[in-house]
Amino acid sequence: MNMILLGPPGAGKGTQAAMIAGELELMHISTGDLLRSAVKNGTPLGLQAKAYMDRGALVPDEIMIELIREVLPKEKGFLLDGFPRTLNQADALEEMLRNAGKIVEHVVNLEVDDSTVVARLSQRRQCKSGHILTASGNSCPECGAETFQRSDDRPETIQKRLSVYHEQTAPLIAYYRRQNKLVSVNGSGDVQQVFSKITEVVGNA
Ligand code: AP5
Repeated sequence: MNMILLGPPGAGKGTQAAMIAGELELMHISTGDLLRSAVKNGTPLGLQAKAYMDRGALVPDEIMIELIREVLPKEKGFLLDGFPRTLNQADALEEMLRNAGKIVEHVVNLEVDDSTVVARLSQRRQCKSGHILTASGNSCPECGAETFQRSDDRPETIQKRLSVYHEQTAPLIAYYRRQNKLVSVNGSGDVQQVFSKITEVVGNA
């Protein structure tokens, strides 16, 4: 099975994707995590991407499409978290999959309003092992490592990311609805409730 998780920044895509990928044995591909790792390692991709990410803008389509072309698994099913984010990226993904004789079966749209996004991202912390925390705190409850705030979780950057989402990514909802692939899930319940709802709709679709 191949799946896409859509939703605004802070909708819970990363949190849910890790759980769903574990449950359904899918490869979790987070473009945000790939880019942050490239930035941390100072790779050419990271050097190109950093300025866009720090100001809450999207990294150019051609860079992102090449990145996805390199990492999409040949055999295993995948769960895309953070890609596609523009209509161009969606068209490119479709072409890539068509050429490989594959399709995306499910597109899950996590619905969360802007005020919830701001509240969640303002207090999000994570640790260097990649655990995402739902509440503030200086040490990770899962592994004890020190926690930090993402550089793009500053208030002005959160606002910019939200407006980029509404302008450039939200049109994908209609794009996938036209293909009869979209299921919307209310992302404002607690983590376990949202997870149960997603596995239910994917199982029933
Ligand atoms: P990316 O890392 O993809 O950021 P994003 O889409 O803005 O999403 P976030 O990671 O902020 O949030 P999330 O939905 O994963 O929520 P999370 O689970 O962490 O991208 C970063 C940047 O990279 C982009 O701005 C762009 O520059 C670039 N980029 C990436 N992909 C790109 C692409 N395809 N094209 C161009 N550029 C690209 O949860 C958030 C918080 O809420 C956490 O604290 C969590 O614990 C908490 N939480 C989660 N679920 C719940 C719940 N149900 N109840 C209460 N709290 C919850």
